[in-house]
Amino acid sequence: MSRSSCRIAAGCALAFVTLGSIAGAYAYTHGFARLLGMQPSATRIVDRFEAVSGKHPGFRRNHAKGVCVTGHFDSNGQAAALTRASVFAAGRSRVVGRLSIGGGNPAQADATSNVRSLALSIVSPDGSEWRTAMNSVPIFPVRTPEALFEMLAALRPGKAQGQGQDASDYGDTAMDAFMKTHPETARFNDWLRDHPPSSGFGNAAYYSVSAFRFVDRDGHTRDVRWRVAPDDAYAPVADAEKRDVDFLERGLAERLNQGPVRWQMVITLAAPGDITNDATRLWPASRTQVDAGTLVIEREEPQIDGPCRDISFDPLTLPDGIEASDDPLLRARSAAYAESHERRVREEEAR
Ligand code: HEM
Repeated sequence: MSRSSCRIAAGCALAFVTLGSIAGAYAYTHGFARLLGMQPSATRIVDRFEAVSGKHPGFRRNHAKGVCVTGHFDSNGQAAALTRASVFAAGRSRVVGRLSIGGGNPAQADATSNVRSLALSIVSPDGSEWRTAMNSVPIFPVRTPEALFEMLAALRPGKAQGQGQDASDYGDTAMDAFMKTHPETARFNDWLRDHPPSSGFGNAAYYSVSAFRFVDRDGHTRDVRWRVAPDDAYAPVADAEKRDVDFLERGLAERLNQGPVRWQMVITLAAPGDITNDATRLWPASRTQVDAGTLVIEREEPQIDGPCRDISFDPLTLPDGIEASDDPLLRARSAAYAESHERRVREEEAR
């Protein structure tokens, strides 16, 4: 493993989980976990996020730095034949969302993250709700919660606080060892190398990463992924922009002063045989794409007292007509988001 690919791996780990290790602090080591086929609990996973970034009471344990956004989703009805979810009937749904960066430190500089994220709560006129938390990279570095737990352990504690992205910050030896046993992580690194982070929140595409299942009115199911593709042209972030520690939120506020920001929601249909339980792999680009409508963001507000503050963007908060796939990350995410949410709400109440 070269030093530079290791550096990106460390960056990716930071992006998704802001890593660090408390190696040895747990009786439950990653080797045992794999041998015994045990899943790391949400408590242990969230503990590891905290070990990396420190405790920041009241904030999310990952993607801690972010901003609330509000707007709507205009469905054009074209996905209504694929799913009975009312959000895809032609019409308008309300949106409360959150734009964020990876990492557990709410004060970290934006340039320390190579992933932007968009979480949405979309409430249809009939009151049903769909929550989705998407990333600007269409794949995840690892396939299973166990591997994520190992990856967290491969990083040195207390180093990934957003100060830098040099591999020496993260503990090369452990990360090298991790990547040797998890070659799938290279696909994530390769994607990042070929797609530098966007200059803003509003000109990035955001992906479901995991597969889900659509259920139509007759009960037929289809495996799908989704993404929102920006109307604003993508541009890579420039070094000068990176000098502003808050360039993403500042840029979003300036952009919204000129008018709403729009994305097209696109549903990708799996073909028979496409793998649905491996978020480290893309489906072929030739798969059918359905344009489902337009996401419009009109307003941003600080997360400290904005409408997204108390929402847990659990990816398994799904309306009738959308179901989880067999991706093992989904259940682990649901449990970890609940654990993170519980901790920060408790801390808010104690203030
Ligand atoms: C499939 C890949 C994943 C995607 C696309 C993703 C995306 C996101 C996004 C967008 C957020 C911010 C949500 C918000 O703004 O409130 C978030 C938060 C978080 N993520 Fe993930 N994530 C993924 C995998 C994971 C995994 C596997 C875990 C651990 C099992 C995890 C743990 C967390 C935690 C603890 C939070 C903070 C949740 C909260 O306090 O509300 N993520 N993730």
